[in-house]
Amino acid sequence: MPDYRRRAAREAMSVRLDVNGMMAEAIGQQGTSREEVEALAPRASEVARVLSARRTAGELPFYDLPQQRGDLQAIKNSATAVRPDLDTLVVLGIGGSALGTRTLIEALGQPNPRVVVADNIDPLTIGTLLDGLDLGRTVFNVVSKSGETAETIAQFLVVREQLLRVLGAVDYKQRVVITTDADSGLLRQIVNDEGFRDLVVPAGVGGRFSVLTAVSLFPAAVAGVRVDDLVAGAAWMDTRAQPVELWQNPAHLLGALLYLAEVKHGRNVVMLMPYSDRLARFADWFVQLWAESLGKAETVDGQPIHCGQTPAAMLGATDQHSLLQLLLDGPADKVVILVRVEDHGRELSIPTAYGDLDGVGYLGGNGLGSLLNMEQRATELALVQQQRPVMTLTVPQVNAFTLGQLFYLFEVAAVFAGGLHRVNPLDQPGVERSKRLTYGLAGRKGFEAFRAEADAWQARKRAEYLL
Ligand code: PA5
Repeated sequence: MPDYRRRAAREAMSVRLDVNGMMAEAIGQQGTSREEVEALAPRASEVARVLSARRTAGELPFYDLPQQRGDLQAIKNSATAVRPDLDTLVVLGIGGSALGTRTLIEALGQPNPRVVVADNIDPLTIGTLLDGLDLGRTVFNVVSKSGETAETIAQFLVVREQLLRVLGAVDYKQRVVITTDADSGLLRQIVNDEGFRDLVVPAGVGGRFSVLTAVSLFPAAVAGVRVDDLVAGAAWMDTRAQPVELWQNPAHLLGALLYLAEVKHGRNVVMLMPYSDRLARFADWFVQLWAESLGKAETVDGQPIHCGQTPAAMLGATDQHSLLQLLLDGPADKVVILVRVEDHGRELSIPTAYGDLDGVGYLGGNGLGSLLNMEQRATELALVQQQRPVMTLTVPQVNAFTLGQLFYLFEVAAVFAGGLHRVNPLDQPGVERSKRLTYGLAGRKGFEAFRAEADAWQARKRAEYLL
């Protein structure tokens, strides 16, 4: 295993960003010009300065997660403690409390013990999952920063009732670990009252920025993911994301080019397309990060803005045969980020056969992995030839160190783009609005007005539009 304390090991495993396909030199007026980047430089420097000052003042604690890891050993110890007699760890959580974990589990998790992320409340899915579990060999990790998200609390109540029935009032507590805020929220109150095992989401770290906290590190460690390497990868990206000069800072450059693509070139959609099945869920994580961080109605000083690119997840090469047609020939409103993996962890060579059939025989002697990477190159070039902006992230291997870099790269890019837009990338008022309506509809005390709003909307619906 590489020792990432050595610089050579870190450099060999660096994620690299290629923005050639974004630039006017490659795609003409559809691309970003050097002049546009130079014109943004003073504002970019100011945003970098403000973010750095806020980080120093402790206002942006997610930034320091790769460096200040006093809790890492305790998280690993908690994972070790639950592993004996464990068949399955079920993570109950949603949004930022689920997506990073699912990314890590699907990319790097070992099959035993199995870690399942149950982020929705579809009764068929949850019921079927519960039916198949041996509750005496299962642990439920209930994850909610706020401690009151309806979906997660509802899951917890369903699970708790089953555990109580099957294991009894003493043993059932051993099957629950709650991850929530240290002081506030209803789950914290439940932990304090009932004495469940618990882990802490650090103060000031919101859901979609919490992948480097106990939220994801605990289940990832249970699944055998090398969480030290994950944190080391993020720390390496933190080092690389220090320069004020945009052209030397991959995270700021990524945020700035996506910002310019949106505000100067009308690129309102950003597609992330990894060429690796193991990174498919990373694209889902990115979708939430970009949508919730940058989809905002107002600037920090209250001016209307309604900004934010619509992020979408793709998968190469599969989606070359569904979405790519639209990307190449449809509306010129998209940016594409391709992710290329150099070493897929395994190669399968394509046998040589049917030498007399040119359309088959040419494949022989290649590997599936190298064909996948040729497809990535082909997509990049096809986009450039159609003057569609594209950038490529190259990942040497899919491992904890490179995933740590990817998570941190996009987190910093999102916060930096938020600074350029002058919006708060850390809040999610729209999500909170929908949560309050759900509370009202489900009869939560204090939220009656939201129930009334929902009923009024039903009453306002016109019969002729109901078919
Ligand atoms: O990123 C966010 O803040 C949200 O997506 C939350 O993670 C999501 O709403 C779940 O919230 P909580 O962890 O408080 O249950």
